[in-house]
Amino acid sequence: MASKQKVQRNYDLSAEVYDSRYSDIQKEKYNLALQDLELQKPLLDLGCGTGLLKDFLGVDLIGCDISRNMLKKAKERGEIVVQADLENLPFKNISTILSFTALQNVPDIKKAIAELRKLNPKKLIITYLDKFDLVKEVENQFDIQEIRKVGEDVCLVSSHK
Ligand SMILES: C[S@@+](CC[C@H](N)C(=O)[O-])C[C@H]1O[C@@H](n2cnc3c(N)ncnc32)[C@H](O)[C@@H]1O
Repeated sequence: MASKQKVQRNYDLSAEVYDSRYSDIQKEKYNLALQDLELQKPLLDLGCGTGLLKDFLGVDLIGCDISRNMLKKAKERGEIVVQADLENLPFKNISTILSFTALQNVPDIKKAIAELRKLNPKKLIITYLDKFDLVKEVENQFDIQEIRKVGEDVCLVSSHK
């Protein structure tokens, strides 16, 4: 796995072209992952990238990402943005955590999932690339209610234990 600094640098460099490459594919994932689900506010978008989810949902969203250049784009879309690392999250009182195609980048996934648990969300909706398997790590901290295949990702819909 690439180091965190390398991941950050790569996303900083690809921020300009990200939407033209991934917008359609990500929006298809949002559609499949979120259909039939009620999203209680406040909503936190972890690894928010350029804010494509903000566009898709059209609601207030707090976005967090490690890449400053990705966040600049998300801010332009109207997302409230915070530069932070998924392994160390400066948030409180979040009802719903959303995270699309970001968690597979994190070196210490146990620490990241423990951080999510600390936020005590009512609902956690995460997707990650299918070649990874985060079920066990999530299961240790949350009740998984549903596992959905969404494009090239797996989506886990969970609530706190
Ligand atoms: C594949 S992009 C997905 C972006 C967005 N969620 C979407 O649906 O388009 C992965 C994002 O995760 C962010 N990321 C990677 N590692 C991170 C970390 N440790 N903390 C916060 N964000 C991270 C990257 O900067 C990048 O914006």
